[in-house]
Amino acid sequence: MPVDGSDEPVGLLGAGTIGGGWAATYLVRRRPVLVVDPAASALERVTAYLETVWPSVRRTVPEAPASVPLDLLRLVPVEDLGEAALVHENVPESLEAKQDAYRCIEAAVAPHIPILSSSGGLMPSELQARMEHPERLVVAHPQSPVYALALVEILAGKATSPDVVAAVLSHLTALGKRPVLLHREMAGYLTNRLTFAMLREAVHLLAEGVVDARGIEEAVVYGITPRFLVGGPLTSLALAGGPDGMRGAMRSFAPTIEKWWSDLGAPHLDEDVRDRLVAAADEILDGRPIAEVLAARDAAVVDALPLHRAGERTGDTGA
Ligand SMILES: NC(=O)c1ccc[n+]([C@@H]2O[C@H](COP(=O)([O-])OP(=O)(O)OC[C@H]3O[C@@H](n4cnc5c(N)ncnc54)[C@H](O)[C@@H]3O)[C@@H](O)[C@H]2O)c1
Repeated sequence: MPVDGSDEPVGLLGAGTIGGGWAATYLVRRRPVLVVDPAASALERVTAYLETVWPSVRRTVPEAPASVPLDLLRLVPVEDLGEAALVHENVPESLEAKQDAYRCIEAAVAPHIPILSSSGGLMPSELQARMEHPERLVVAHPQSPVYALALVEILAGKATSPDVVAAVLSHLTALGKRPVLLHREMAGYLTNRLTFAMLREAVHLLAEGVVDARGIEEAVVYGITPRFLVGGPLTSLALAGGPDGMRGAMRSFAPTIEKWWSDLGAPHLDEDVRDRLVAAADEILDGRPIAEVLAARDAAVVDALPLHRAGERTGDTGA
């Protein structure tokens, strides 16, 4: 499944937020894309999305096409996916809808063609349960905006072939992605579990009245995020440990960390807490439409990419 220099199209089943993001990722590298989506005006919608985000998409790849290469984008019926070298499934997050989608894809493409699910939390063993060739199914969960964020979580199901996993890892790496392979299936995968762990404590602190919504947001944006450009929580802890790194951190902080862990909250999203979260978001967003804030966030993510690359040069990412 080569990326550069390959004329073989990739297939995208579902062209909403994530399918559109995969389309941008391939088109900016001049790779042909076949889109399958039954929605009325699916092609117009994905084209409009690509036109809107293209100024940002172009900044992710050197020598990117100046405008969206629409000649490389085709809306096709699922039966015409046979030309695709691989297929990304990006239909809504429903086990049944995805299993139905695999039946249609399998009827159209040869048995060796890998199918990559963008699912954000379904178990690959369940996704592949009704497939004729389950060995070709891999979860490849991207982050939004897909064209800008490199991380893709990879999960194999019980029936997935290790050769397919290896091919998918090498394909995504050649595409400029940073695939991370989970060693076993787990609900919520990796990024959502880490994010929800922080969210849990944020909700606890808010519900307990320890800090207001703005304070939580500022702590993350101005205190935590900039350091995470060069490494995650493990790097941060090692750097806090003095010249001995993690050994020093364990000597100095292990008892404190355990004590604070035991004090972390386990809030419930009851009616009152839900109302408080809605009020908190209203206060933070201050009447700005979600689409506007989302577009601003995605543009900021692209702005931050050179900082990421600078972080990688420090060698602190463990990569
Ligand atoms: N939105 C995110 O931030 C995000 C991030 C990572 C992963 N995901 C996952 O990606 C997948 C897609 O999410 P999304 O946000 O792009 O959804 P979406 O609702 O924006 O798009 C889904 C698209 O699939 C199309 N569709 C529905 N049934 C279809 C079928 N049988 N064949 C072809 N197309 C079909 C719909 O018309 C729609 O265009 C989900 O599994 C989701 O959990 C979403």
